[in-house]
Amino acid sequence: MKFTLQINQRPHTVDADPQMPLLWALRDHLGLTGTKYGCGQGLCGACTVHLDGQPARACQTPLSSVGQRRITTIEGLSRDGEHPVQQAWRALRVPQCGYCQGGQMMACAALLQSQPKPSAEQVHEALAGHICRCGTYGRIEQAVQLAAS
Ligand code: FES
Repeated sequence: MKFTLQINQRPHTVDADPQMPLLWALRDHLGLTGTKYGCGQGLCGACTVHLDGQPARACQTPLSSVGQRRITTIEGLSRDGEHPVQQAWRALRVPQCGYCQGGQMMACAALLQSQPKPSAEQVHEALAGHICRCGTYGRIEQAVQLAAS
């Protein structure tokens, strides 16, 4: 079945099973590999994208459920240069292996959109369920506060 998805402000057509997770459409059909596969069960956050500006786990989002909602991936997070979250990540050298960081940044960018000056508790809450095997949590939290400043 054909789906026309609005991704990073451009239409993309994907011909695939309606139950296929959005994650595979992004990665395998469209080559947007910044969105990562971690657990495939909605538990790690590596596959986080935005749907109409809200964080969503692409591994748990069937293609048939997306409709005309705007999809933003890490590749489209910034329209010109780097998003403040990406700048903060770079400034504080947050990533270690880097695998989970796209998902972490997408969650933080969505948080800052709704809470421009989040409390430590709100940051903690927004990042709950985002797993970093390298343990960069401290730098991630500092980077969110830097991006918010
Ligand atoms: Fe989607 Fe882990 S791959 S939450």
